[in-house]
Amino acid sequence: MTYPSIDAIEEIFHLYDPPLWLVTARAGERRGSLIATSVVRASIVAERPRMLIAIARQHHTWGLIESSGRFALHLLPADDLEAVWRFGLATGHRTDKFAGLAIRETPDGQPLYPGAASWMDCRVEWGMDTGDRSVYLAEIVGGGLMLETPVLTVAALLREAPPDRKAELDRLYARDREIDAAAILAWRRERPPR
Ligand SMILES: Cc1cc2nc3c(=O)[nH]c(=O)nc-3n(C[C@H](O)[C@H](O)[C@H](O)COP(=O)(O)O)c2cc1C
Repeated sequence: MTYPSIDAIEEIFHLYDPPLWLVTARAGERRGSLIATSVVRASIVAERPRMLIAIARQHHTWGLIESSGRFALHLLPADDLEAVWRFGLATGHRTDKFAGLAIRETPDGQPLYPGAASWMDCRVEWGMDTGDRSVYLAEIVGGGLMLETPVLTVAALLREAPPDRKAELDRLYARDREIDAAAILAWRRERPPR
């Protein structure tokens, strides 16, 4: 199946500007982290706050969340592009992304990034395998503000990224898109048509 309106769909995605979230997770001694835009508030009930996130199953951080059922979400100051290069380009499958950082712990035991504007502790209530990703519904069990500042968004990232970093982002995006496309097709093949 082809999508003749694929350019329009891409344009629609550029009509809004999502924040970049730093997701950290720990399972036993193993720690990990990644940058994510697929993160949204999922409840309006102040006493029952919840988030929805979608994490690609190929990522190191995914395995940690699967094992522990917990993660922390951070918003980043608008000028902290270094965090994107550190947490969003490398993979914890091969490197320790926290090396050289004075990482603290959230009350729920997740890695706390000291440069963040805010943090929230989350516990998974439900997970759904969508082929390329796992979508998690999570209860927020704690949180704190660390810095009053505008937060980093996709538009700011694309505006401020130097050419070599932009090229690296594009390269990784293209690679992940291929892996994800195959996983979505495999997932659809295994499911009866609706
Ligand atoms: C701007 C941006 C947005 C991203 N959004 C997501 C996302 O929503 N979900 C996801 O699984 N990965 C997302 N990624 C990709 C991961 O952050 C990246 O592949 C990371 O290196 C994975 O690390 P890990 O293998 O150590 O877990 C995003 C990356 C960038 C740069």
